[in-house]
Amino acid sequence: MSVSANDADTRRSSRALTRAGSTSVNSPPLTKATQSIPACRSFVVRVSRNEIPHPKTSAHPSQLASFATSSFLGPTSKGTSAPPFKEAVATDAEVVVENSQYQELIAKEAKHWSAVRPDPQNPQIWHDPQLFEIFFGKHYRRLIERAVAAGPAVLELGCGEGNLSIELAQRGLHVTAYDLSPERIERAQARAQRLRLDHCTTFRVGDLNTLTLPAETFDSVVAHDALHHILNIGGLCDEVRGSLKPTGVFLVMDFIGMGAIRKVLAAALYALVPTYQPYRAKWSLRHRLRGFLADENRRRQSLQDGSGSSLHDESPFEEISQRSIVNEIRKRLLLTAYETFCPFWYYFAARIRLPKGMRYSVARLLHVMDGVLLRLHLVRGAYFFLEARKL
Ligand SMILES: C[S@@+](CC[C@H](N)C(=O)[O-])C[C@H]1O[C@@H](n2cnc3c(N)ncnc32)[C@H](O)[C@@H]1O
Repeated sequence: MSVSANDADTRRSSRALTRAGSTSVNSPPLTKATQSIPACRSFVVRVSRNEIPHPKTSAHPSQLASFATSSFLGPTSKGTSAPPFKEAVATDAEVVVENSQYQELIAKEAKHWSAVRPDPQNPQIWHDPQLFEIFFGKHYRRLIERAVAAGPAVLELGCGEGNLSIELAQRGLHVTAYDLSPERIERAQARAQRLRLDHCTTFRVGDLNTLTLPAETFDSVVAHDALHHILNIGGLCDEVRGSLKPTGVFLVMDFIGMGAIRKVLAAALYALVPTYQPYRAKWSLRHRLRGFLADENRRRQSLQDGSGSSLHDESPFEEISQRSIVNEIRKRLLLTAYETFCPFWYYFAARIRLPKGMRYSVARLLHVMDGVLLRLHLVRGAYFFLEARKL
């Protein structure tokens, strides 16, 4: 995926657009306003609908290298062995969003994230440290260990209230971190100050769709649960590649979603089983079903046609990138690790209404059931961990 203004040469105007509406790490921290894109009429995103690798387990770096090369440069030459995963099918499509519409939507997105608080009727795994540990702990710790091993200068994308950044700072790293929400950045900064980590953390407000990063600065760039909100994922990956030192690594843990069948099953089960959300409230949310079932292409379509019919009411960029995150990274960097996890049952862990004492035992059982689905190679996970480095 690449980004450009629609009235100029694609590549050059892409950079111009990015610069026109961006912050850089040299910009002052804590800018209240979100970024604007004043220099062009439209926000154009070219989306590549490639297949992503579907490894059965974490692939060996050489396999991933061969896949990255074959999908980037075309099929391997005669006589060489076939790539280990499905061949990429490149069919690019563009998403055009008028600048004024983009400004409106990104302001809505920032407002949403500034207001997010744990909702007792709709509890989430990441608001409960024990549940988080059961489902995400292994990969989260792997991400931290890999960032620590990479070197002292780390950039976090979409840092929220700074959980990961602060853990990395506590491990001795110098962290620069961006988020769209000024309020979240303020909370992250206040936490860092309370923990006396402000000397090694820099939190800034910035829009990852338009951010410009300094060249060859970071030993690692990390992103946790943030990139599926980014429309211009290709442009961001260009920036990440440019900002990594030659030996730097890009470490991502994110959401790639469930397929249509699993989503229908999840919606049906959620409607039927007792959850913290009462049945009456669930019924009143039935208009959101269309958005829940939409894949990233449908969401982008709905963005472009201005209907917004498949977009989240308050968070228009929710799940706007899923498979394309991995596609766009592997066009620019070499994947050295890629693994998916949490295919289905994780979805219910925080939501099913259970006596308190049973909560974590049931969660562990659901985690085991997810493991079985993965081991049987029935489905890929709804989340992935990846590590990538410069080619
Ligand atoms: C699901 S939260 C994850 C936050 C954090 N990484 C964590 O794990 O706690 C997604 C974050 O992405 C941020 N975000 C969404 N769109 C963004 C954008 N265009 N630019 C920068 N940050 C963005 C949100 O403000 C939010 O804090």
